[in-house]
Amino acid sequence: MRLSRAVLTAAVVSLTAAGLPASAAAAPAAPERSVTDVVPAPVSAQADPRGDFRLTPFTVITADRGAGQVADYLRGLLRPATGYPLPVVPRAAGLPAISLKLGHDARIGTEGYELKVARDGVTLKANTSDGLFDGVQSLRQLLPAAIESPRVQHRTWTVAGGTILDYPRFAQRGAMLDVARHFFKPDQVKRYIDQIAQYKVNTLHLHLADDQGWRIEIKSWPKLATVGGQTAVGGDPGGYYTQAQYKDLVAYAASRHITVIPEIDMPGHTNAAQSTYAELNCDGVAVPPRTDTEVGYSSLCISSPITYQFVEDVVRELAALTPGEYLHIGGDEAHSTPPADYLAFERKVQPIVAKYGKKVTGWHEIAKSVPPVSAVPQYWGFGGDDPDVAAAAAGGNKILMSPANHAYLDMKYTPRTPLGQDWAGLVEVRDSYDWDPATLVNGVGESQVAGVEAPLWTETIRTSDDIEYMAFPRLPGIAEIGWSPRSTHDWDAYRLRLAKQAPRWVAQGIDFYRSPQVGWQ
Ligand code: ACM
Repeated sequence: MRLSRAVLTAAVVSLTAAGLPASAAAAPAAPERSVTDVVPAPVSAQADPRGDFRLTPFTVITADRGAGQVADYLRGLLRPATGYPLPVVPRAAGLPAISLKLGHDARIGTEGYELKVARDGVTLKANTSDGLFDGVQSLRQLLPAAIESPRVQHRTWTVAGGTILDYPRFAQRGAMLDVARHFFKPDQVKRYIDQIAQYKVNTLHLHLADDQGWRIEIKSWPKLATVGGQTAVGGDPGGYYTQAQYKDLVAYAASRHITVIPEIDMPGHTNAAQSTYAELNCDGVAVPPRTDTEVGYSSLCISSPITYQFVEDVVRELAALTPGEYLHIGGDEAHSTPPADYLAFERKVQPIVAKYGKKVTGWHEIAKSVPPVSAVPQYWGFGGDDPDVAAAAAGGNKILMSPANHAYLDMKYTPRTPLGQDWAGLVEVRDSYDWDPATLVNGVGESQVAGVEAPLWTETIRTSDDIEYMAFPRLPGIAEIGWSPRSTHDWDAYRLRLAKQAPRWVAQGIDFYRSPQVGWQ
């Protein structure tokens, strides 16, 4: 950063006016950040070292009509560390401003944005508030990492100058949290939502029921939560979300421009339900609760009418709690459901989802059932040939990509990783970044990819620190695979950009894995 004497003097004057020590401005920091360092990599970015913008106690945030929510969110991001008032106002009235503008720019679609940082102000333009929110995530990375501190830091606040024009490669960039194997309280889920939102992740898939626990209150089958929610892997404490808590979580995610996709896994992974309600078993006898990590042993009773009453009740209540378009109906590893029964089950259940106004998403095994073209199979294999998934893509279904050997955040990084599993192999940071959703599965090209999702299964994950250690630094890489143009893909450059994120994670209190592959400073 080269600053003229006049700029420096102005900075000293403005800081002195703010009652801050002039020495804070005496030694401007080296350019530790640039518009070209943003993660996920933007479509285009031109740095302008003479265009740095300095936040001061006089800076205001202006917001067009419709931009107020994002403006308030931005203010909430910038106030704790700066201590500046940063009022949200309709017009700058001559004061230095960060201006949020809504318009019609055909280049950037519904989630893109244009960000211009110049000496005299910052202008962020988008077509929607989603686009503004994405632009704010880039803007925060142009400030020093200390901006992420929860406490006031006495220092200068310079936004790196330049221009970004940006929009996503794929519509869906997701994360999944398994709250069934271990339960995570609403505040823990909110913490994860805030962490993933900064990388422009726009969906959170919650795996709400599995063999070891049922985590969502269903009023028509109340014991699912109060009894089926008591257990967790290894005898750890269970728990569940009341419908009110769940609605609050969904609203919190929406305030971070994230849509929640709820999953009830079926017809397998259902032991918690079947140990709670005897009538969900073909022999009418409740199975014992299970807290081990076996898979593939449970199955709903495919021939029994009560099974479909249960499914309809659950789907109806879940649909009413879900503003998003999709319900996830699982469908994976149904090894105890004979193939013909599996197809019969899917053919009865998928129309129930449609009856309550939602579209189906499910693990890629649902592709065998030839689901409606609106359904999104979620691929969790290792890539290569999968004729059912390829046939679904050929028939018009979009496929969500979560290859276990790249995108599963519960895989160990190395043999020494204290958490996680290794059935899909070891997934170091580079493995999570070096793949292309459009060439992963034969017959599923760019236009048939819905996007990417990074699932975190929690058999071995018990705390927020555990979540963070497995998600960081892999999640930002998977988010970049979903957002950034393929032309930006470059491991050698990425590992250096990623390293520059680390001080932000430290300031945010994120416990992350210091992979030797990344060029930490
Ligand atoms: C899965 O990992 N069973 C979807």
